[in-house]
Amino acid sequence: MAKAIEIAPSILAADFASLGEAARAVERAGVSILHVDVMDGHFVPQISIGTPVVASLRRATRLTLDTHLMVERPERYIDAFAAAGADMISVHQEATPHLDRALGMIRDKGCRAGAVVNPATPVATLSEVLAKVDYVLIMSVNPGYGGQAFIPEAVEKVRQLRMMRERSGHNFRIEIDGGIGPDNVGDVVRAGAEILVAGTSVYHTPDPGGAVRSMLSLAADALTQKV
Ligand code: DX5
Ligand code: ZN
Repeated sequence: MAKAIEIAPSILAADFASLGEAARAVERAGVSILHVDVMDGHFVPQISIGTPVVASLRRATRLTLDTHLMVERPERYIDAFAAAGADMISVHQEATPHLDRALGMIRDKGCRAGAVVNPATPVATLSEVLAKVDYVLIMSVNPGYGGQAFIPEAVEKVRQLRMMRERSGHNFRIEIDGGIGPDNVGDVVRAGAEILVAGTSVYHTPDPGGAVRSMLSLAADALTQKV
């Protein structure tokens, strides 16, 4: 079944002094998911956002909060992010020996559970958890920073994951994150990506809402073979 394409703006690229306004700017453009990058300074070099910011965003917007945990042993923090108001919580395959347990904890909290793979991690490593995820996130950059160049091999990984979904009959969504912008939106949606995380290409423009609308229109064109 074809699923709607969504852009999930990443507030990592927004002005941290005005996150409420950053959320509202894309909400007005029809966005329904806001991507929140959590970095611990261990799994990735930077430290970014923690539970207090998620709690503030929860009060500032009704958008679905898609919390991407780039942290070691994320199972330690799942309860806290769920309590802070996260709706979707994703954990990296590479960050815990207990991915199955972590995904179960997320669902037990009533949140949608996502598994994430880094560029060097094959999607096949997720074969045993596909029944336990609501979405899979393919990284198209090495996590840790916004504004990096898209890694084109991610497109083939999206295609492989879509085939795994077809074969398995499971019903998860496919998300892609890193370096997404007008130049590659068509390729990733044709491969099967359904939630496109976009930081720089949304918030480092004068009109974030307009940037979202124009990428959605490129995605729609690509799916109807116009480009
Ligand atoms: C990278 C983060 C991404 C990042 C995307 O570690 O997971 O979500 O914010 O930013 P852009 O779109 O600028 O690559
Ligand atoms: Zn992210």
